[in-house]
Amino acid sequence: MNAAVRDAFNEQIKQELYSGYLYLSMSAHFDQENLPGFAHWMRLQAQEELGHGMRLFDYVLRRGAKVELRGIDAPQTDFGPPLSVVESVLEHERAVTGMIHRLFELSGQEGDWAAQQELQWFIAEQVEEEDSAATARDQVRMAGEDLSALLMLDQQFGSRVAEPEQA
Ligand SMILES: [Fe+2]
Ligand SMILES: [Fe+2]
Repeated sequence: MNAAVRDAFNEQIKQELYSGYLYLSMSAHFDQENLPGFAHWMRLQAQEELGHGMRLFDYVLRRGAKVELRGIDAPQTDFGPPLSVVESVLEHERAVTGMIHRLFELSGQEGDWAAQQELQWFIAEQVEEEDSAATARDQVRMAGEDLSALLMLDQQFGSRVAEPEQA
């Protein structure tokens, strides 16, 4: 791995861990708002992000490159109503998709085809992440001001289970 690609991977490790931090903060918010199902869902999302960070961590090590952990920014702690939180999730996932695409682009410019192959997994994963965030956003939007619909959604999100890690 050359220095530019290695640094960009190290930066992405941080970004994945930050995503986990942000989703944990959202999980705490939902818990305090008495929406335990949404809290549960965001906690699962946070765990998934930590898994992404670890996947990159292991990849950098496997390439024999140096892992340099960077400082993780503090996530916001104040959030608005459920709809604005799920909108933020979608917005965040789209931003991460952009980062992965730029990392893929850089790896190509640097002739690191192996890194591009590893990043294909992340490109596919982001399609899933954006799709599920968009569905959640649409469902919360449909519930609108109807509190019983929101509580039903909360139950639905509460029954989600962690997805098995794909190869
Ligand atoms: Fe991620
Ligand atoms: Fe994500």
